[in-house]
Amino acid sequence: MNRQVTILAIETSCDETAAAVIRGGRTIISNVVASQIDEHQRYGGIVPEVASRQHILTIDAVLRKALRPLPGGWNDIHAVAATYGPGLAGALMTGLNVAKAIAWIRELPFVGVNHIEAHIYANWLVTDAQPEAPAPQFPVVALVVSGGHTLLALLEGHGRYRLLGQTRDDAAGEAFDKVARLLGLGFPGGPAIQRAAEGAPGGVVLPRAWLRDSYDFSFSGLKTAVLHQIRDYQAREAALQPGTGKSAGKRGVGASSAPPEATATPPLPPTIVARLARAFQESVVDVLVTKTVEAARAFGAAEILLAGGVAANLRLREELNRRAPVPVRVPPVALCTDNAAMIGAAAFYRFEAGIQHGWDLDVQPNLALNG
Ligand code: KG4
Ligand code: ZN
Repeated sequence: MNRQVTILAIETSCDETAAAVIRGGRTIISNVVASQIDEHQRYGGIVPEVASRQHILTIDAVLRKALRPLPGGWNDIHAVAATYGPGLAGALMTGLNVAKAIAWIRELPFVGVNHIEAHIYANWLVTDAQPEAPAPQFPVVALVVSGGHTLLALLEGHGRYRLLGQTRDDAAGEAFDKVARLLGLGFPGGPAIQRAAEGAPGGVVLPRAWLRDSYDFSFSGLKTAVLHQIRDYQAREAALQPGTGKSAGKRGVGASSAPPEATATPPLPPTIVARLARAFQESVVDVLVTKTVEAARAFGAAEILLAGGVAANLRLREELNRRAPVPVRVPPVALCTDNAAMIGAAAFYRFEAGIQHGWDLDVQPNLALNG
């Protein structure tokens, strides 16, 4: 394998405009991520049109910064890669078209990358803390938990996947974001819930959707359970306050005519928020860890790889490490959330296997793991 192949990778599938230069699939030469979070925060979630516009405004500066450490500049790049799905169509278009244009002008090979596969490949990147870390050993069981995806996959070799299970409704990160909104915490919800849950007292236990005999997941019922807890609390409070009557419950969270996501959230006392955040997080972590550990045993995995934005969750890391029968690998937090370094890592192994794409490769917003 030629360890010196240097790939310029671009990622614009959601709300991060990112470019990176990766050598030999594992070494990060540069890794630039411009987050749009401030642009979206005021809407409480990601607005596709805002994301597309921001990518166009930002991509040039991000690319220039990513190329800066290369002594030979463009001449040091051997191939160009970009995410082509899954993700927001308009957002994906910017990165994919910029990458194709660069590859065409500079007569370089072009590799399209699956964003979910790339999250898993974040585990192949080495960091300054562990520059000599060995590459993951196959077979591996990978748990991908992000804002858009939650799935368990078995990897028997590079590019050889078996999808074991996936979410039937909300992705784990989406559940974190929706429940954070119900609790009046900010966006993105994952870090906010983790912070709120820290040091919170136990006592509240929320349901777990086990979906027996399946590696599938479901989180929408858990979200509804949180909503019911909030309503119950508000009903109790309203009953204790003469004069406000039951109407407080009606105006409050989850007024019955509106869907949970669309409902305004009046402030809840911090202790209630903390308890529910903890109970919610424990429920998600329990289901994710139990199924991952079962899969690792069933398929004789040599390692478990954690990937995606929710892999940043400290309780998930802690619990998986505690219960796993084999070593658990988790990328550093900055490589768990969306970035282009992981795109460069995934692209390298595809490129080494002889895979390249033509100029006709289009965005595929619903691209599956095997797609
Ligand atoms: O992978 P990612 O950056 O974007 C997608 O491809 O979806 O994941 C973003 C998701 C968000 O839903 C965010 O709330 C969640 O990852 N997240 C976390 C944490 N940090 C980010 N969820 C739980 N705990 C965290 N510490
Ligand atoms: Zn992602």
